[in-house]
Amino acid sequence: MRTYNIAILKGDGIGVEVSNQSLKVLDSISKKFNIDIQTQEYLVGGAALDECNSALPDSTLNGCKAADAVLFGAVGGPKWDKQIGGISNLNVKDKDSALSAYDTPESGLLGLRKSLQVYANIRPVFVFESLIEASTLKPNVIKDVDLVVVRELIGGAYFGKPSGIEVRNGERVGFNNMIYSESEIARIAHYAFKLSQKRRKKLCLVDKANVLDVSKLWRQVVTEIASQYTDVELSYQYVDNTSMQLIRNPRDFDVILTENIFGDILSDEASQLIGSIGLLPSASIGDSYALYEPIHGSAPDIAGKDIANPMACILSVAMMFEISFHEIEIAKSIRDSIDNMLNHGIRSRDLAIFGATKVIGCEEMGDLIAKMILEQ
Ligand code: IPM
Ligand code: MG
Repeated sequence: MRTYNIAILKGDGIGVEVSNQSLKVLDSISKKFNIDIQTQEYLVGGAALDECNSALPDSTLNGCKAADAVLFGAVGGPKWDKQIGGISNLNVKDKDSALSAYDTPESGLLGLRKSLQVYANIRPVFVFESLIEASTLKPNVIKDVDLVVVRELIGGAYFGKPSGIEVRNGERVGFNNMIYSESEIARIAHYAFKLSQKRRKKLCLVDKANVLDVSKLWRQVVTEIASQYTDVELSYQYVDNTSMQLIRNPRDFDVILTENIFGDILSDEASQLIGSIGLLPSASIGDSYALYEPIHGSAPDIAGKDIANPMACILSVAMMFEISFHEIEIAKSIRDSIDNMLNHGIRSRDLAIFGATKVIGCEEMGDLIAKMILEQ
């Protein structure tokens, strides 16, 4: 019997609720496909801060490294927000000391990504036929949209040194360093080219090379690497233009390759093409580890109300089975069940007004998807 060990990091807010639904799905998969799935839960984010004074306890990191894959819910919430912009950050001059302190929920997530060296963040954006009306854009603009944002995840301004807030000439200055080495650019570029080869063979590098030196290096390195992938059509766009083109003609995009912050922003924008951020899964891949997480956050405003949309987290499980375990049939069965449910007009609350015959809560949706997988 095949065995998969999965570390479950539910985190905070709706991260807990949506992860719980994914556990139901894992249970169905194990029964239906006769697979031994071992799950082990670990604390992360605010929950870990409360319990162990660190948003990324050693036990969590070690557990993730020992697992075959990691499923992550979401972190953060107002309870811990006082740290952001609060006095605790004032003396932080160096990002490494910020990360080793793990004193905010988000630092736990960033530290985890960095420690696992998951540099390639894959964020697919695809339209569910039955949700075409859920977008704020016109149906003829979003019909057949199928793109992937490949976001560099462990470099750039999120991690560049020096960074901090300090007093200079009697006033506070805040600074971050958007820095990339050519090897950091090259490894994700190869990933993006290979992914493009499996898709429509169109790769768009998004940067700000008309202004930023670091972007000029991205262009040089990616252009050099392109000669190894002559079947892929490489284009270039400035990030401000991409933010416009994404809502003007999203069908034009196949694979978007970009650095950390640009990818963070563009992937949130892209999520609205398909109607709700609650639908978008992601995979974060490195040479040794892989982490799967919905792209939405912990949504404290709706946490604990059983109204969160578990689909992004469950679709992240589908990505895990496809990418980490090469279980294409299982990934398909998860996606088909969700598709089927949506085709029946069953919706989570974020999608409630669009062709809904029935609006159900997070728990009920988890039960339903798990049941549909079994009955397929
Ligand atoms: C994301 C999130 C994170 C990020 C936050 C929570 C640190 O916005 O995964 O997109 O900025 O990467
Ligand atoms: Mg984000």
